[in-house]
Amino acid sequence: MSKLADKEFEFTKLHPGDEEKILTLYRTYRTNTYPPQMVRQLLADFPSVGVFHKGALIGFSYFEYFAPDIIELGNIFVHKEWRNAGLGKKIIALMEAHAAALGYKAIILTNSLGYETVEPKEHAAGFYKRNGYENVLHTEQSDVFVKYLSGAQ
Ligand SMILES: CC(C)(COP(=O)(O)OP(=O)(O)OC[C@H]1O[C@@H](n2cnc3c(N)ncnc32)[C@H](O)[C@@H]1OP(=O)(O)O)[C@@H](O)C(=O)NCCC(=O)NCCS
Repeated sequence: MSKLADKEFEFTKLHPGDEEKILTLYRTYRTNTYPPQMVRQLLADFPSVGVFHKGALIGFSYFEYFAPDIIELGNIFVHKEWRNAGLGKKIIALMEAHAAALGYKAIILTNSLGYETVEPKEHAAGFYKRNGYENVLHTEQSDVFVKYLSGAQ
């Protein structure tokens, strides 16, 4: 697994207006995606991260509301061609830094095999565990993960 040179990629916050780029990328993975207006509102209300390669969005993550001091990682995605090169790890680290800077104490997220995907759905549990997330709920289809930020309990 070769690690890619950081300078090839631009990591940046995303903003309302970027929802079509996000959904165009996400449709390579899930045909039944979210309404653009919903994503637009999340980009307006919460931090997000995009990674660009030669001007094209190849990965993203955005937050959504969970509780006043806990934020939900609504989605994280890296285009198939660019996976396993450390981009997801960098995206989630930046997301954690944004959440911590806003005073959130923890991140929660759900990883579910229940969604219909274009490509065979791979379980992302290993990715979350590798990045310090604890699996606090497990059903046949879904896992809920949490991570405390900056040692908060
Ligand atoms: C999950 C996803 C975002 C990971 O992004 P990525 O860029 O491929 O991940 P990275 O290369 O940064 O991997 C970071 C670490 O997690 C590990 N990892 C990545 N995907 C993994 C998986 N499915 N299972 C186990 N470990 C995994 C890597 O080996 C790496 O370990 P290392 O730190 O020892 O090198 C990406 O695979 C993806 O977009 N998948 C499809 C969408 C999806 O499932 N999103 C999650 C929805 S909840």
